[in-house]
Amino acid sequence: MKKVLVATEKPFAPAAVSAIKEVVEKAGYEFALLEKYTSKDDLLKAVENADAMIIRSDKATKEVIDAAKNLGIIVRAGAGYDNIDLKACNANNVVAMNTPGQNSNAVAELAIGMMVLLARNNYNGKAGTELRNKTLGIHAYGNVGKYVADIARGFGMEIMAFDPFIEKEAMIKDNVTPLDSMEDLYSKCQYISLHIPANEKTKKSIGYDILSKMPKNAVLVNTARKEVIDEEGLLKTFEERPDFKYISDIAPDCSAEIENKYPGRFFFTPKKMGAQTAEANINAGIASANQIVNFFENNDTTFQVNK
Ligand code: 3PG
Repeated sequence: MKKVLVATEKPFAPAAVSAIKEVVEKAGYEFALLEKYTSKDDLLKAVENADAMIIRSDKATKEVIDAAKNLGIIVRAGAGYDNIDLKACNANNVVAMNTPGQNSNAVAELAIGMMVLLARNNYNGKAGTELRNKTLGIHAYGNVGKYVADIARGFGMEIMAFDPFIEKEAMIKDNVTPLDSMEDLYSKCQYISLHIPANEKTKKSIGYDILSKMPKNAVLVNTARKEVIDEEGLLKTFEERPDFKYISDIAPDCSAEIENKYPGRFFFTPKKMGAQTAEANINAGIASANQIVNFFENNDTTFQVNK
């Protein structure tokens, strides 16, 4: 009997776990759960005899993949798969997948929610500002970027986007102005919402040079990955521009310095929580379980990311 392990340091909502279990057991497989684990050894032990694995931001390192001797497939319930060692997967004939789009609305709602929170000074009673008529630049127009545009349109924002991988027509259809360069986007938009993946090309790619192009009262909103920010450049921007604010889903490594020196100019979530809704957990969890069943039963590799 195939064994499907759900290994999540940050647990799914209980309803998502039940839904995953149901799909797995209906297929005639064994369901195993490892949640809130605190040591790598617990994970290494749990993966030992798993044929399939569902994870979130959990680190699927070479050590983990090597320890999972029976593993045929690992699914990241979510979009970004920068936490999976794809080389190790290739070396061990493990198929790696993600579940694109399944948790995107949750991330988009958090991005806009945090923008409102900071615009209203964390609801401290003092006069804040509104989003209506402000410019919003969406950096990468994938699933999350599109949802952000949908919601921002309701707020009456003027929306632009830069994404060299997406047809301009798709943006125009959504009433979003496509721009030809990152420089153009950052220099035209007061708010920038980041949706680029973290990879060798994008890590530390957002730094002083590009941030200093942003107009007055600039706000950078990062629900992507903290690793895409060049933190030296971020700190320099904070220092030089008293009008600059930074919102991030998970604190940057330099958060202590920002918290000490620049009060009122940032908001950081205590844990990565863009996808922390019951709906997103259920959607991504069920999609992961179905992808595993389809892989084993029908050899379906539609969402494979290590081809
Ligand atoms: C993603 O890449 O899908 C998000 O960052 C969600 O990550 P999480 O499942 O760890 O919350």
